[in-house]
Amino acid sequence: MSYNIDDVLDVTIEKMAIGGSGIARHGGLVVFVPDSAPGDKLRVKITTKKKSFAEAQILEILNSGPSRRQPPCPIADRCGGCNWQHLTETEQQNQKQLFVKETLAKFLPGRTLQFLPIKPSPLSFRYRNRIQPKYHQGQLGFFSRRSHEVIATNDCLITEEKLTASFETIKETLDQKFLHKNETQRLEIYLDQNETPQWALLGEEREGIGFAQVNRFQNEDLIKTVLNWAEDMTYERLFDLYAGGGNFTFPLANHFKAQNIIAAELDPRLVQKAQEKIQSTNSLQKRVRFYTSDVALFLKRTELKAKDLVVLDPPRSGADAFVMKTLAHSPVQKILYISCHPVSLARDLKYFFEA
Ligand SMILES: C[S@@+](CC[C@H](N)C(=O)[O-])C[C@H]1O[C@@H](n2cnc3c(N)ncnc32)[C@H](O)[C@@H]1O
Repeated sequence: MSYNIDDVLDVTIEKMAIGGSGIARHGGLVVFVPDSAPGDKLRVKITTKKKSFAEAQILEILNSGPSRRQPPCPIADRCGGCNWQHLTETEQQNQKQLFVKETLAKFLPGRTLQFLPIKPSPLSFRYRNRIQPKYHQGQLGFFSRRSHEVIATNDCLITEEKLTASFETIKETLDQKFLHKNETQRLEIYLDQNETPQWALLGEEREGIGFAQVNRFQNEDLIKTVLNWAEDMTYERLFDLYAGGGNFTFPLANHFKAQNIIAAELDPRLVQKAQEKIQSTNSLQKRVRFYTSDVALFLKRTELKAKDLVVLDPPRSGADAFVMKTLAHSPVQKILYISCHPVSLARDLKYFFEA
């Protein structure tokens, strides 16, 4: 069967794809449908057609899937920020878990892997401590889906209220400077360590504050998990690679008081932040070393030993191939890899099975 743009099809959504759309099949064609939910029976119209897949928009919901709900946010259907708010939280978690399992199975065929139950964020809303809204001619908000039109809002349900409470004053300041200018301003609003809102315009010279975990509630669980999973061995040294501002470095240093801990991070702003913390605490000065370095270069200069602990938390793109090969061939017995993306995790883990 051949398919063309504007063809109308009746489909059933099987599951969600990582980009946010639901996936259906029609004949041999895979169809991605934004704003759909698993189990939805839909009448859709093809909007994009590629060789092996198509994208389609919903014309009519013939029958809603069991996990479809009214999105709690009033602008969820237009705002480009959230694309799964029309799914219950349980379904969002199921779909994420399924994605991790299927991705690992695809990249590591024939391997038996043990999966623990998903640990959801303690909060489904009001958890983000950092956002990057946009401003254009009196409108402060977020880019709409698939365009750079700014959808104005004075709230964002997934953001901590301490931050959204600052929208009004920030907008007033922006109005004074940019109300009649045509360019769209990108800004970053974040809670600092005293939980006070801070903000800055983002531009070519200023690219935000560097990496920070956006959900401090879930981050607490993440740190506890790292400490628990590290607990069962005695180490000679601890390494925190892709260390950011020391999110894991400092809890590890406080937990394992007899060991030296060595951290590597590329972003000098984050290293500076960590250095300030080290300098202000006597007990850390002797035991914690923080290097501004690419992790691959750092590992070229470092000989890892069996009794070292390695924690690594690379960006979404995953770790460098050299880093993974070095770790896979090293004598280190315990490696904790914290991943931001299941595809790069699966790709990186392959090195361990090839070693
Ligand atoms: C996912 S963040 C993790 C940061 C930290 N572990 C945390 O929990 O806040 C990844 C970090 O890796 C850093 N990074 C990216 N590429 C790097 C590289 N090649 N070498 C060292 N650090 C890198 C980024 O600047 C970022 O801080």
